[in-house]
Parts: sequence; C-alpha cells; structure tokens
Amino acid sequence: MTTYATTPGVTAPSFRLEQKRRITGDFPGPRSTELAARRAAVVAKGVASGVPVYVADADGGIIHDVDGNSFIDLGAGIAVTSVGASDPAVVGAVKDQVEHFTHTCFMVTPYEGYIAVAEQLAELTPGDFEKRTVLFNSGAEAVENAVKVARLATGRNAVVAFDHAYHGRTNLTMALTAKSMPYKTNFGPFAPEIYRVPMSYPFREENPAITGAEAAQRAITMIEKQIGSDSVAAIIIEPVQGEGGFIVPADGFLPALAAWAKANGVVFIADEVQSGFCRTGEWFAVNHEGVVPDIITMAKGIAGGMPLSAITGRADLLDAVHAGGLGGTYGGNPVACAAALGAIRTMKEQDLAGRARHIEAQVTERLGALQADLGDGSIIGELRGRGAMLAIEFVEQGGGRTPNADATKAIAAHCLREGVIILTCGTYGNVVRLLPPLVITDELLADGLDVLEQAIRTVNAG
Ligand SMILES: Cc1ncc(COP(=O)(O)O)c(C=O)c1O
Repeated sequence: MTTYATTPGVTAPSFRLEQKRRITGDFPGPRSTELAARRAAVVAKGVASGVPVYVADADGGIIHDVDGNSFIDLGAGIAVTSVGASDPAVVGAVKDQVEHFTHTCFMVTPYEGYIAVAEQLAELTPGDFEKRTVLFNSGAEAVENAVKVARLATGRNAVVAFDHAYHGRTNLTMALTAKSMPYKTNFGPFAPEIYRVPMSYPFREENPAITGAEAAQRAITMIEKQIGSDSVAAIIIEPVQGEGGFIVPADGFLPALAAWAKANGVVFIADEVQSGFCRTGEWFAVNHEGVVPDIITMAKGIAGGMPLSAITGRADLLDAVHAGGLGGTYGGNPVACAAALGAIRTMKEQDLAGRARHIEAQVTERLGALQADLGDGSIIGELRGRGAMLAIEFVEQGGGRTPNADATKAIAAHCLREGVIILTCGTYGNVVRLLPPLVITDELLADGLDVLEQAIRTVNAG
C-alpha cells in the first residue's frame, strides 16, 4: 500500500486507517455543523480552531472527521504527532500503563517510567556532561521552569528573548513571546525583567549580506549596552523559530550566542518545544550547528500526543534548586511517560530523523520547481526550513518583501476545501508551515503537495 522508503535495519510504520484523502460531500458536514453549534453554547470563544470539522479518528498522516471525510494532516497537531496520531508503540504503552496505575504523583510515590524518560533525555540531548531532567505537562510550563532554574542558579534576574519569539501563553511565557495579537493583547501586566533583542531573519534583514556572527554581535551589543552581561540569567531562543514564521537564523548565529553566553556565565536555553524530537532531521535543531545548550526545553513530539514536557540540562544548574522547588501534581504523569518511551522507541526504530530529511528533500524539490516555474515576482517570497519543519513565506507580487497574509489565508482555505490541513504562522501572518507526521507515506505527501501547488498557482494567478 505504501512506498515508504525503507533502509536496512529501519522499520516501516504500519497503519490502521487507509492513508488516502477523501472528501465525501458537504463540508463541513452535518455532524460537524451540529457539534459547532453545541460548542458555541459552552466553549469560550478565546479557544479558536483553525479547521471547522470535528475528528472521529486519526492515524499516520490521515484525520477522519465525523462526517466521513479523510484529510491529509500536514500539521501533526502543531508538530506533536510526529509518530502518527495513533502509533502502535504509543497506544500499546499507554494501554499497558493505564491498566496498572494512571497517577500517583511523582512527588509523593515515584515510579520507574519517569526515571526511564529522564535516562532517554540524558542520552538524546546534546552535551557530554552530567545532566538532570524535570518533567512537566506543557511547553509553557517547561519554559517557565527553565527560567526559574537559570535565575536561581545564577542569582541574576534578566532574561533575553528574541524578536518573533513564541514561548507560550502563561504570564511569563507571554512576556517572552514577541507577537501581541492574539497572544498578549490586553492580557498584561507581564512578568518583568524580560528584554527583547533582534533575531537573525535572513529574508527580512535590511542588509541581506549580514552574516550569522554579525547578527549575533548586533544582539550581544544590545544586551551589553542595555542590560549588562552581569545581570543576565539566561538567553532563551528557538533554534528554528516556530510561531514567528519558521525562521532559520543565518549559519553562525546560534554558535556565536552560545559562545558569548558561556563566556559570560549566562545560561543558554534552547526552546526545542516545536523543533525537537527528529522534526528538523536531527534529534534536536541545535545539532545542525553543534550547539550544546545549558538547558533544553521539550514538549510536543516527545510523547506521541500525550501531554508531557521536560527540561534537561547541566546537573550543576538543575541541582542548584532546593528540594520541593520544582515539580507539579501531574508533571511526568505515568501514562504520559509510557507514551514518551513508546514514541522515542518508534523514532529510533523507524529512523524518523532520517525520515524528516527525506520529507525535506521531497518537499523542497517540488516547491523549488514550482517557485522556479512561477518565476521572479510571484507570491512565493522564500522557501525555508529544516527537515520536516518547512515553510513558504508569501509576499505581494512584484518582487518585494511586503507580507501577503491574504494570499496565505486563501491558500490554506483552498487546501482545506480539497482535504489537506495546513497551518499558517508568522509575525505577519504570511507563512504557510508544513509539519507533517514524520511517518507520512510518500504517496500521501505527494498528494498533499499536489493540492498545495494547485492552491498556490490559483492564488498567484489572482
Ligand atoms: C517554541 C515553543 N515554545 C513553547 C510553546 C508552548 O507550548 P505549549 O503550547 O505546550 O504550552 C510552543 C508552542 O507552540 C512553542 O512552539
């Protein structure tokens, strides 16, 4: 049924649901429409959904809605279901765990699964030093705790974040996040002692020739002049920015920042909540440039869809915290830990980092050919990304860099009508991002790209 590329020693995934797109009729159908009405009566408007259909089942790269439509999933629940939405290793581990115990609270009566996840994270994260891990529930919670640890361990207050950053929706992580609408508007006051410095955003640099090292120096000068390096507890950065637009900094930017942090006793926190766990073609995005963070924050892909997050970092930093200073009722829930162990096993057995690189090759070939065919001055401003974290930044026609959010919305809507779920992002709302489950079959991905190509051609033609 599938031409999933296989290499000796690498296991191919197996699927419960047929990996095929099918739109049967009305869209959204009657059952989704009925659920939307029930939802409107009881669910707060602030929780918005990008897709107006309700899910009945999901597996691999396919989502079935309650009206019998099958969608190609190019979003993976925002980079979560990298192993697919119902990976047998995750499902089996979860079933086995829930039959024994669902919760005891690791802070009360501990269990092995938590330790086993911490052992995996010590092995998988970069850095040849002693490490410690703490588990939480969400990405924002991991970020909050990484900052807590950095402040306590350094005795300093200031935290440096970047333009276009996204770190979550809690009070501290809103403060770290750059974009106001919809994440911050009217939710203040925000946590103090957060400072923002310029990112390396090659497509939008005033001087396109600026190198990664020069862009890092621009940020470092601002830190030294406006905060003072002695006051800085941590720099936090997404090695490939997620919500901000899948921005890949210029080569040399991350290593220069990490080196400066090391020389100045500043904790370098890599927020790999979106980019981690094979998504970019490596276990972690920092691996592309050999950067070794002091602390890494992780969530999303870590547990095949179960809520789990983690911070892993230098033992001397994490062990500086007094007993009882870190934790939470549900952090490292045993079912979520079992799911993480299943997901990590799948990532290893199926070489999903290699699979992400395979997806990158397929997508960039297709979209690169499309960009060349549309020629200069089309709405495609830039194709970028790493592994299966890929993006198209759309601009107004004519060769400039004016963001084109309308085209982006129209393309996403076209894809959805044809049965392909794609997500948008970006400070200017003008980026389509591709985050397929890493187990997606070649045929399904090709079908999704056919639809995306058609959508781009239609919108480009006006
Ligand atoms: C880089 C990054 N950090 C933190 C978060 C917040 O994670 P969560 O939504 O699980 O709180 C996200 C979510 O998109 C993210 O992409």
